[in-house]
Amino acid sequence: MTSKRTVVVTGGGTGIGAAAAELFARSGHDVTITGRRADVLAATAERLGVAHVAFDAADPAAVQAALDQLPARVDVLVNNAGGNTDRRRPAVVAGDLAGLADAWRANYEANVLTTVLVTEALKPRLTDGARLVTIGSIAAKQGSGSYGAAKAALEAWNVETARTLGGRGITANIVAPGVTLDTEFFAGTVSEDWVAARVSAAFNRRPGTPGEVAEAVFFLARPDSGHLTGQVVHVNGGAYAAR
Ligand SMILES: NC(=O)c1ccc[n+]([C@@H]2O[C@H](COP(=O)([O-])OP(=O)(O)OC[C@H]3O[C@@H](n4cnc5c(N)ncnc54)[C@H](OP(=O)(O)O)[C@@H]3O)[C@@H](O)[C@H]2O)c1
Repeated sequence: MTSKRTVVVTGGGTGIGAAAAELFARSGHDVTITGRRADVLAATAERLGVAHVAFDAADPAAVQAALDQLPARVDVLVNNAGGNTDRRRPAVVAGDLAGLADAWRANYEANVLTTVLVTEALKPRLTDGARLVTIGSIAAKQGSGSYGAAKAALEAWNVETARTLGGRGITANIVAPGVTLDTEFFAGTVSEDWVAARVSAAFNRRPGTPGEVAEAVFFLARPDSGHLTGQVVHVNGGAYAAR
C-alpha cells in the first residue's frame, strides 16, 4: 500500500474522477472530491467515504471561496473536471460568429480554466514531491473543434507547470483517455454505432472504462513515479499510438 497522502480530485462526483477517487480512497489516501452539483458530490462522497466540496472550478471567485474547505496540504491534485461543452448546447449555426465564440469560450473555461485556477489556488499548499495529474484527451491530437483545442492547450500548460515546479520534486503529467464509457461525458448524445465506429480504431476494438483511466492516474501519482514528468500518457487501446 502507498503511504497515506492527501488527494484532491476535481470533478470527482462522476465518471473518471469518481473512479480515481475510489482508487485513492481504497488505498488509504485522504481524498476530497469537488464538482458543481452538491447532491451528486454528496452521494459519491458517502459511497466512497471521502470529503467533498462543491464549487465551479471555472469561476475564480468560487475557487477562491472554496479554499477554506479544501485541504491545507495537498500531495496529489487530479485536475479531472471538464468535458466537451458542445455536447450540452445546440450546434452553432453556420455564420453565427457570436455563437461560435461563446462555444469556444465554454470549452476553454470548462477544461483549461478549471485546471489553471484550481492548480494556482492550491499551489501554496502543494507539498514538495507532490503529483499533478490532469485529464486531457485523445481529442488534443485528433480534433473535436474547441474541445480538442482546449485539451491541446492543457498539454502546453502542463509542460510549463512541470518545468516551473520540477525543482521541488513536483511532477505534472497528463492522462489522455480515448472513448471511455460509463461516465456523463457523452450526455446521451452518441449511438452504439458511433461508439462502434470510434473504437474500431483501437487495437483492442473496445472503449475504455473509468477504472482503466484511473489506474494510469494512480500510477503517475505514486511517490516513486518522480522521474516521469511533463508527459502525456494515452489510455485508448492504441486508437492514438505514440510515434
Ligand atoms: N469519457 C470520455 O470518453 C473522455 C475522453 C477523453 C477525455 N475525457 C475527460 O475526462 C474528464 C472526466 O470526464 P468523464 O468522462 O468522467 O465525464 P463526466 O462524468 O461528465 O465527469 C466530468 C466531471 O467534471 C465536473 N465538472 C465539469 N465542469 C466543472 C466545473 N466547471 N467545475 C467543477 N466541476 C466540473 C462534473 O460535475 P458537475 O457537472 O457537477 O460540475 C463531472 O463530475 C474530463 O476532463 C473529460 O474531458 C473523457
